[in-house]
Amino acid sequence: MDNLKDKVALITGGASGIGRATALLFAEEGAAVAIADINQEMGESAQKEIENLGGQIIFIKCDVSKSADCQLAVEQTVATFGGLDILFNNAGIVSRTNVLTITETEWDQVMGVNVKSVFLMSKFAIPYMEKRGEGTIINVSSGWGIQGGENAISYCASKGAVTNMTRAMAIDHGPKNIRVNAVCPGDTDTPMLRSEADGLGIAYDQMVKDSSKGRPLGRIGTPKDIAQAVLFLASDASTFVTGSILVVDGGGLAGTG
Ligand code: NAI
Repeated sequence: MDNLKDKVALITGGASGIGRATALLFAEEGAAVAIADINQEMGESAQKEIENLGGQIIFIKCDVSKSADCQLAVEQTVATFGGLDILFNNAGIVSRTNVLTITETEWDQVMGVNVKSVFLMSKFAIPYMEKRGEGTIINVSSGWGIQGGENAISYCASKGAVTNMTRAMAIDHGPKNIRVNAVCPGDTDTPMLRSEADGLGIAYDQMVKDSSKGRPLGRIGTPKDIAQAVLFLASDASTFVTGSILVVDGGGLAGTG
C-alpha cells in the first residue's frame, strides 16, 4: 500500500463523497494529503478520520471559485508538506434546471465551482509541479461531460468544459512532464446524488433502482469505486496516460455513441 509514498496531494471537495474517499485512499497509499473544502465541519471531521488512521493530513477552508482561496490552498499545502505532486480537482455542485428555470446567479455559481476552479487551482499548482519536474492533475468530469442529461443545463455545460479543458491542459503541460486526465463517474452514492433526488422530488431508493437498471454491472458507484480510478491516474501505474477521459460508471455509457 505504498503507491503514493512521499507524494503530496491536494484534493478539492475532499470533505465529502468521492473527494473524501479519495483522501482516505491516498493517505492509505502513503501520500500527505491536503483537503480544500468550503465545508469546515465536514472538512475537520475528514481530517480527524484520516489522522486517527495515522495519515498525514491538513484541512484548508477554501471556496474553489475564488482566486485568493485557491492560491492560499496551494501555498498552504506546499508550506506544510514541502511541495505538490498531485492535484485532484473534484469539488462540484449540481443544479437540476433547464435554460428556462435556471437563474443567472445559479449559472455563474455552477460554472465558478465546477469550471473556473479547475483553471484557478491548476494555475497556482502547476508552477510547483514544474519545480518538481513532474506532476499529475485529475479533474472530475461526469458521464454528463460526454453526453447530455435532462434538466441539468449548467452542469452539462460545466462538465463538458472540464472534459475538453483536460485534453487542452494535457497538450500544454505534457512537455513539462505534467499529466492531466479526467474521470467521468456515473451515478455514485454520495450526498450530492441524494440532494439531486430530493431536488427532483424522487425517492432516493427509486433513483438508485432506475439508475442501476441502465448499467451492465447493475448498480450505482461507491465513492471508493471512483477513488480507485483516481489513484490509478495519480500514481506511477499510469506514467504514459495523459489527456485521457476515464469513464467509471458500471458500463452506463458503453451502449451509447
Ligand atoms: P459531494 O456533495 O458529496 O461532495 C462535494 C464536495 O465539494 C463537498 O464536500 C462540498 O462541500 C465541496 N464544495 C462544494 N462547493 C465548494 C466550493 N465552492 N469550494 C470548495 N468546496 C466546495 O459530491 P460528490 O458526489 O462527491 O461529487 C464530487 C465530484 O464528482 C463533483 O465534481 C461531481 O460533479 C462529480 N460527480 C458526481 C457524481 C455522483 O453521482 N455523485 C456523478 C458524476 C460526477
